[in-house]
Amino acid sequence: MGWKNVIKIADFTREELEELFIRAKEMKEARKRDDLSSKVTVLAFFEPSTRTRLSFKTAIHKLGGDAISIAKPEASSLAKGETFTDTVKILDGYGDCLIIRHKFEGAARVASDVAEHPVINGGDGSFHHPTQAMLDLFSIYELFGTIDGLTIGMIGDLKYARTIYSLFNGLSLFDPKRIYLIAPPKLGVREELEKQITKKKNCHIVQNTKDVIDELDILYVTRLQKERFPDPLEYKRVAGSYRVELSLLRQGKDNLKVLHPLPRREEISTQVDDTPYAAYFQQAKWGVPVRMALLSLVMETTE
Ligand code: CP
Repeated sequence: MGWKNVIKIADFTREELEELFIRAKEMKEARKRDDLSSKVTVLAFFEPSTRTRLSFKTAIHKLGGDAISIAKPEASSLAKGETFTDTVKILDGYGDCLIIRHKFEGAARVASDVAEHPVINGGDGSFHHPTQAMLDLFSIYELFGTIDGLTIGMIGDLKYARTIYSLFNGLSLFDPKRIYLIAPPKLGVREELEKQITKKKNCHIVQNTKDVIDELDILYVTRLQKERFPDPLEYKRVAGSYRVELSLLRQGKDNLKVLHPLPRREEISTQVDDTPYAAYFQQAKWGVPVRMALLSLVMETTE
């Protein structure tokens, strides 16, 4: 597929992701590079974000580029009724690359259809967050030196979390020993994910982390995506139905690591934060070198 547009993780190959990891490692060491010198990147965020938007902004700065942004759609001409595609055409005329976050599934693909410059999906709808999946896979690589042969548990909102769906698809490009999807019983797993799981011998759905904790190398946790529940009552029924406590992690392997795309609500006890299990704040920091590497690969396609 190549690096021009970054719409979903499944568009990439293992080899491409490994190329990204190597470059991200170089970026970790680099204080400043000029890969984006004289380039303008447009950050068009139509949904709230802290990590994705600001780690991209930091990455752009460290690569010697400039960023312009829409961070509050209500302060743009969208508030006057301008269409999404007209907005994208205008932004495409100003910048060399567009990074888009949107609540609607497919927004980044639509943008890539109308933009001449590369489009990077900063998360759209409840399916795709490819740069988060790249960062999650890189974090596993950094922590364990491999993804192959590991056992990974994913707990949380398996129905609406785009990070879970994207990471699951990213892991499918590698050869993990086992993947456990741990779903709150009243929420369950989205249909598309369930179909994919049933086709794979090494993937299983379980309801209780305790049953698999001793096998796990990684426990990947997500919050409930309150904003994506169509019915507030559905959210109320499952709110607080899972929480990772230190006592649970102590039943696992000594080298067990907990990842989380963040933001966190109450699903990981803060008691975990200062223990060797917690890798989620380090993971968020790695967002900068991974997005530096990604931008540098994408910009090469424009030269
Ligand atoms: N993980 C993540 O996408 O965080 P933000 O919503 O803060 O960007």
